[in-house]
Amino acid sequence: MPETVLVTGGAGFIGSHTCVELLAHGYEVVVVDNHVNSSPRALDRITKTAGRPLAGAYRVDVRDRRALSEVFTAHPVDAVIHFAAHKAVGESVALPVEYYDTNVGGTCALLAVMHDHDVHRLVFSSSCSVYGEAPTVPLTERSPVAPTNPYAHTKLACERILRDVCDHLPDMKVLALRYFNPVGAHPSGLLGEDPRGVPNNLMPYVAQVAVGRRERLDVFGDDYPTPDGTGVRDYIHVMDVAEGHRVAVAHLDDQAGLRVFNLGTGTGTSVLQLVAAFGEASGRPVPYRIVERRPGDVAELVADAGAVAVAWDWRTTRDLTAMCRDAWRFQELNPDGYAGRPPRAGGPTTGGTPCG
Ligand code: UFG
Repeated sequence: MPETVLVTGGAGFIGSHTCVELLAHGYEVVVVDNHVNSSPRALDRITKTAGRPLAGAYRVDVRDRRALSEVFTAHPVDAVIHFAAHKAVGESVALPVEYYDTNVGGTCALLAVMHDHDVHRLVFSSSCSVYGEAPTVPLTERSPVAPTNPYAHTKLACERILRDVCDHLPDMKVLALRYFNPVGAHPSGLLGEDPRGVPNNLMPYVAQVAVGRRERLDVFGDDYPTPDGTGVRDYIHVMDVAEGHRVAVAHLDDQAGLRVFNLGTGTGTSVLQLVAAFGEASGRPVPYRIVERRPGDVAELVADAGAVAVAWDWRTTRDLTAMCRDAWRFQELNPDGYAGRPPRAGGPTTGGTPCG
């Protein structure tokens, strides 16, 4: 019997790529998503990309325990990957209660429903933002945590809840993955990042400048203590993030309790380096200007990616060129994101259980 994995937030950027990866490796996949920050059209794209239907897709808010419980009753869930959460740092400063309610409240509701249905295996979506302003890089999982905004606080709060739950419910097996900066897209150009409104993050903003939707990029500060003065991040291809989740599911049974891992490449890239790489990959220079620093930003966040390499014998394989090339392909083929026409004609675009 293939394993059934329930993916919360499965229509989102990382969730959709992870669903494709799981389907490609024979898992049955059930998606739960309330679509506040994702398009239901991503579900069709998942099916089309994987060439296999989802076992189910439900428009459910994870905080709605009754509706969530019905999904667990309808499917033999073996493991859960929990992506569903708000994730914009700036927005979290304006709406902290909403962030705690969705991110922490949603995780508690999910844990309660998992407990009711005797499901004990979970991969949790955490963030490198829990490290805050890092005194030294690269960051290992033992580096001090010091969140600087409500979003990062909610992720750390969830990790602490998971630690307590695992300490007191010995059947629980949980992996918390602290992602660095996921970017890029599926190489088919069918799936990618489709932010609502003005993108908060660098790569989708750069892509929209290159495609002509925005005039130029604002680079937030060039006076950081980094080689060119702009912020340095550890960008990781979303296909590597998706693969990392599939490998994590396969390693859930290695050990009971909570284990925390970084998901990064170990390579730092500055804003200006990314702009140059994107210009090369797309063949279109990306106009930019230097502006003030963005409040809450830190100079440098780079992972020590050694722990997953040792634990799972797994490493990321895609470099910055692949990240830019694939992000550009998605942007070029889908200039209006999922709201536009699908890039390739022919074949049904629907499959699996209708969202509802
Ligand atoms: N940047 C710009 N101009 C922009 C956007 C970003 O110069 O228009 C710079 C930032 O100042 C930073 C770098 O690009 O130096 C990356 O910024 P992002 O907004 O793309 O990503 P962050 O590093 O701020 O990522 C944070 C957390 C992640 C989280 C993400 C979600 O570290 O865990 O926000 O918004 F997932």
